[in-house]
Amino acid sequence: MCPPGAGKGTQAKQLTDRFHLRHLSSGDILRAEKAAGTDLGKTLGQYMDAGKLVPDDVVVKVMASALSANNAAGLLLDGFPRTVEQAKALDDQLAAAGKALDVVVVMDADPALIVRRISGRRSCPKCGRVYHTETLKPRKDGVCDDCGTTLVLREDDREEVVRQRLETYRRQTEPVIAYYRGRAGLKVIDVDGAGTPKAVLKSLAAKLAELGLGS
Ligand code: AP5
Repeated sequence: MCPPGAGKGTQAKQLTDRFHLRHLSSGDILRAEKAAGTDLGKTLGQYMDAGKLVPDDVVVKVMASALSANNAAGLLLDGFPRTVEQAKALDDQLAAAGKALDVVVVMDADPALIVRRISGRRSCPKCGRVYHTETLKPRKDGVCDDCGTTLVLREDDREEVVRQRLETYRRQTEPVIAYYRGRAGLKVIDVDGAGTPKAVLKSLAAKLAELGLGS
């Protein structure tokens, strides 16, 4: 759980590489559908470009199918669930498969810092890799290191949309933290997203290690 732009995608990539996890990002999955230009993609795009959440019934269906196709152990969910309704649907799907969440990561950062980070973000529209004009530059200016695609500024990264996304987070996603906190058998880790990417990863990895996860 993390406000937009706090760095969850950046940390998710580091954690999946380091701990050999599979990364399932709802934002990446929805952007791929939008880019495909399907009817569903066009509908999703209207919510995403306005900084609003895509309706629960649509996201739950899309993510249920992605989860079923990636049912191996060691899955890192990024951006899902984002409402209490989505969290309940995820619980039901996991219970039906005899599985459960191990850890929930809550990462926060100051809104002013978030706006600065997002304004410098450049993303690869093909593989989803994320860069920053100041703090995380690609080897060749404007080109993805991994797949050679030209980097873009996401349509929802304009400042007024970012502010709408932050408001959406406070209203619809923060209640999910309370839904998980205190649940028996589920660990909730709090991480300060304000440091450098390396410092945040170090703090996150140390907290996971304290729980006996990763090394
Ligand atoms: P999504 O793609 O999930 O976007 P988001 O939550 O708004 O998060 P971001 O991708 O903007 O930020 P991030 O925290 O991953 O930051 P990043 O690591 O890139 O969702 C997009 C949209 O899809 C939603 O608005 C919604 O419409 C829809 N959607 C998705 N899931 C949904 C769901 N479950 N239900 C309904 N709708 C859903 O970092 C940002 C920048 O900062 C980068 O440039 C990075 O290089 C830099 N940076 C990162 N960490 C640091 C650091 N520590 N120091 C300095 N710079 C840093």
